[in-house]
Amino acid sequence: MTDFYKCSICGKIVKVIAEGKGQLVCCGEPMIVLSTFKSVQEVLDFAIEKEEEARQFYLEWSKKLENRNLSEQFVIFADEENKHKEKLQRVKSGSTFKPSAKQVTDLKIVDYLVDIVATPEMDYQEALIVAMRREKASFKFYNDLAAISADESLRQTFLALAQEEAKHKLRLETEYEKEIYTEN
Ligand SMILES: [Fe+2]
Ligand SMILES: [Fe+2]
Repeated sequence: MTDFYKCSICGKIVKVIAEGKGQLVCCGEPMIVLSTFKSVQEVLDFAIEKEEEARQFYLEWSKKLENRNLSEQFVIFADEENKHKEKLQRVKSGSTFKPSAKQVTDLKIVDYLVDIVATPEMDYQEALIVAMRREKASFKFYNDLAAISADESLRQTFLALAQEEAKHKLRLETEYEKEIYTEN
């Protein structure tokens, strides 16, 4: 299984592509392996962080895009990701999300991370690929959260979030295909 390590100081996440000896160190501290979530709190914090990343990504790219329609679309996406974040913050402050400890530790963090990271140097196609993978990971994440939600209205909330991410993914896929065809 692929291992991801996280720096508890700067938040950097690294992926191990070949095993070796020795310890990974970042900011002068050993990095921690990301395997499973330890609490409901951690699950929701992860989700909130991902939504914020997505929001920033769409905003940033909305400014770089020459295609006006797509740029406007990205602004809408950024706004939707922001609403997702707010929704999750409300879930966090409420008390209806109560999966069992086992259900929480059964969620594999690696399933919800993408193995390429968005960088400012990326070109438009690469950025679309990262975005599509992220949307796919988010879709799976919310479906999995819905599956472990005992509370019906919360289950519906997570399912609705999953659907919105699926829509984002579809829109990006359509755009990506258009891009490929116009280049050839
Ligand atoms: Fe989202
Ligand atoms: Fe999304």
